[in-house]
Amino acid sequence: MHIRYSSTYGSTKAYAQELAARLGADALDTTHPIPADGPVIVLGPVHGPKMPALQYVDRHQLQHRKLAVVAVGMTDPVIAAEKDQMRHHLPEHVARFYVPGRLFYSELSHKHLNIMRSVVALLKAKPLKSAAEKALIAGFGKDIDHTDLAALDPIVRWAEQT
Ligand SMILES: Cc1cc2nc3c(=O)[nH]c(=O)nc-3n(C[C@H](O)[C@H](O)[C@H](O)COP(=O)(O)O)c2cc1C
Repeated sequence: MHIRYSSTYGSTKAYAQELAARLGADALDTTHPIPADGPVIVLGPVHGPKMPALQYVDRHQLQHRKLAVVAVGMTDPVIAAEKDQMRHHLPEHVARFYVPGRLFYSELSHKHLNIMRSVVALLKAKPLKSAAEKALIAGFGKDIDHTDLAALDPIVRWAEQT
């Protein structure tokens, strides 16, 4: 099993390392290429419509391999799985998982803080807000950690069956 991750603030890295420990594999960041054979798990944060894990999959043409992609985000994972934003980017056989992340405003770069400020301002002006949007507004400026290593259990099961 090959595990690759992209992580700006460390929460995805923590998931990748725990997953690697549980599977007896190595977790390397996405600056590393991937061997030609064997199943792959790619993890990355959700940044709005952008997901570095999907960019890695495209760059290395992993779509046709035995593959699982793990999105780490602040949206409630049940809601994220219903929305399933990776669905249209990946062939049906690819396993998609959504796990809860960590967002510490106290450590955000200026660029990311400005993005979040704009997103929250836009959402505040929206008349009808979803539960996820309300949570994003309420969390603005706070340090919130929803990391839950038990969220890796279904991914471990997928890997063991692969
Ligand atoms: C600029 C920015 C945009 C984000 N957009 C989303 C989003 O659209 N949906 C979501 O669920 N989480 C979003 N997040 C939360 C991150 O996905 C979450 O904090 C993740 O755990 C970060 O992973 P990392 O610690 O490995 O960098 C965003 C975070 C940042 C900084």
